[in-house]
Amino acid sequence: MIDPTLSPEWKALESHSSSLKPSALKDLLVEDYSRVESLSLDIGDLFVDFSKQLVTDETIDLLLSLANSLNLSEKIQSLFAGEVMNFSENRPALHTALRVPSESEDQGSPLVKEALIKTSEFAENVRAGEWVGVTGKPITSIVNVGIGGSHLGPLMISSALRSYSGNDITCRFVSNIDPKNLESQLSYLEPESTLFIINSKSFTTSETIMNAQVALKWAQKTLGEESNLLHRHFVAVTANHKAAESFGILPENIFPTWDWVGGRFSVCSSVSLAAMIAIGSENFQTMLNGCHNIDEHFRLTELSQNIPALMGMIGVWNRNFLSHANHAIIPYSTDLTHFPSYLQQLEMESNGKQVREDGRRVNAETSPILLGGIGTDAQHSFFQLLHQGTTVIPVDFIAFCNPTPPTETLDGEMVLKNHEILLANCFAQSKALAIGSKTETGYLSSDGNRPSTTILGNRLDPFTLGQLIALYEHKVFTMGVLWQINSFDQWGVQLGKSLTETIATDLTEAKNNSDHDPSTKSLINRYQKNRDL
Ligand code: F6P
Repeated sequence: MIDPTLSPEWKALESHSSSLKPSALKDLLVEDYSRVESLSLDIGDLFVDFSKQLVTDETIDLLLSLANSLNLSEKIQSLFAGEVMNFSENRPALHTALRVPSESEDQGSPLVKEALIKTSEFAENVRAGEWVGVTGKPITSIVNVGIGGSHLGPLMISSALRSYSGNDITCRFVSNIDPKNLESQLSYLEPESTLFIINSKSFTTSETIMNAQVALKWAQKTLGEESNLLHRHFVAVTANHKAAESFGILPENIFPTWDWVGGRFSVCSSVSLAAMIAIGSENFQTMLNGCHNIDEHFRLTELSQNIPALMGMIGVWNRNFLSHANHAIIPYSTDLTHFPSYLQQLEMESNGKQVREDGRRVNAETSPILLGGIGTDAQHSFFQLLHQGTTVIPVDFIAFCNPTPPTETLDGEMVLKNHEILLANCFAQSKALAIGSKTETGYLSSDGNRPSTTILGNRLDPFTLGQLIALYEHKVFTMGVLWQINSFDQWGVQLGKSLTETIATDLTEAKNNSDHDPSTKSLINRYQKNRDL
């Protein structure tokens, strides 16, 4: 395997980037009116505008040459064909199989279909009040107990599509081992109308299993210890059926996920059961169709017109050739509040790596640090740095021409007016970042030349959300290919997990004999002197 940073394609990009003037973006935008046409693309009702990125036609050509030299098109086909993409764990990464429509020519896997039918039926039963608890009361609250990919995806969907729920069932999410997390959610709930989804692909994640045990105790306190309690109030989503059954979950109440779906790529699987209950199976299917629409675009479109591939290539351009270490995701939509944190796991757990597929060190920087917030709130917190700070942070603006269907709570006309101003803010920010303003007074000046992409949709609905999810999944894959890293494993999180086990034993057994460094030893001592336990 050849180090991509030594290739002529990489070198050509390096020399091209050093030939660009610092004010190039501003000049390009003002001087070249054809730029928007050549640097923006439509897919479905999404308009993706790359024209405020510091790229020229030559940049795109050079990035395409790099992508071709690294066989990006072939790698995309391999991904969809189910070839081994996760080399360290010898697995394919078949998240795209989760959204193959049943009527399509390639009808997808029967396993996937079966699971989707099972989760859809269950979700509809719960929504219809047909699934009742031990006292015969219908379920009015769902608590998803899971972390990482078993939390961020379903949380993001149920919040993003809350306008489409058509139901009063509330979904709550508990992820953290901090007991306050569980307590803060349970304090509002009645055990007899609460259903817990124990969501863990491995069913070994300590946070999830310990929270599940505390939740069971909480329910038992009111409803007694009969086994029916577990059967009516606890279901599981997992690839480890045996462990879920040992916990006491009935086999028919276990919803499957599989080894070949990575946690952070599992949002289209049973892992999103809570979201499916929240929005209904029909809306969930529409979201899957949105993902599939982008999957087909990614699989079949030549790289020069391929939106997620271009997002990835421009991401690498910003990271490696313009040296931008950060990347901001700013949706102008309160409903997308959880989208940036969902993307943080997707991007940083996937591409925060330093070793290539062949075991050698990557000779370039990999994943940028993703940060995010929603507009307009973010404008009033960290945007000062985006405009005038010494660090340039490329931004993805995500906005919609229309608000999601308004509720009867607010005046319809005023909703439209406020939404218009929301959009004006979004467009103003990307313009201000790119063009800036020069004045005699230094502190009033903004240099401009700060790059961004704007993704403008018609309306945030299930189909559009699916499109956004798949766009970013494939962007992440593209960047991984250009860096020659494995985007589908996460060995970096293992060391912390195993050290926690050792230290937990020290804390519990009041000893401090393990081979800790002096700082860790002193923290353990301090805890042991001050604990209430
Ligand atoms: O953080 C590591 C990780 O393995 C993630 O990749 C995963 O989404 C999360 O833990 C939760 O894992 P599980 O679903 O197995 O509980």
